[in-house]
Amino acid sequence: MGARERTVVILKPDALHRNLIGDIIRRFEYKGLKIVGLKMTKLDDMKLDEHYAHHKDKPFFASLKKFMKVSPVVIIALEGQDAIQSVRLLTGDTKGSDADAGTIRGDFAISVQNNLIHASDGLEAAEKELDRFFGKDELYDYNRIDEIMVFEDRDA
Ligand code: RTP
Ligand code: MG
Repeated sequence: MGARERTVVILKPDALHRNLIGDIIRRFEYKGLKIVGLKMTKLDDMKLDEHYAHHKDKPFFASLKKFMKVSPVVIIALEGQDAIQSVRLLTGDTKGSDADAGTIRGDFAISVQNNLIHASDGLEAAEKELDRFFGKDELYDYNRIDEIMVFEDRDA
């Protein structure tokens, strides 16, 4: 039994250029996660400096920012029981070549930087990222007809 949470996934420029947007989103759908927000957008320096503030002194910061501006990205908000941890597990380790087979990075990525997606890494980060990337009117509450099968009553 877990708390119903919302989390953010950014499908990075490599996902777009490699035509993997559909396959990646499909994995989250298969898991039973509900898409409550979805947009395509270009990230600017202001957003990237804020989003990657904790990495600003790392040697890869400049390269990461440049990569994230190569093209638009697709950003989704996902909802479900323990959504934050579920999405991190489906995402896999940062470095594609180390990531477990069966994870998105393990199956589709080999690079450490070009690792296809970003996923919120905790409750506090998820809340900040929902605010950072979505307006209140861009996140939706609705009931999906399969929820009664995806979750037990006691998960609600
Ligand atoms: P993310 O934040 O994107 O979900 O990924 P993560 O938690 O697995 O990785 P994190 O340590 O937060 O790093 C953020 C992103 O920076 C790039 N990176 N490059 N060259 C490097 O050593 C290196 N390390 C990290 C990756 O794109 C990583 O997802
Ligand atoms: Mg991270």
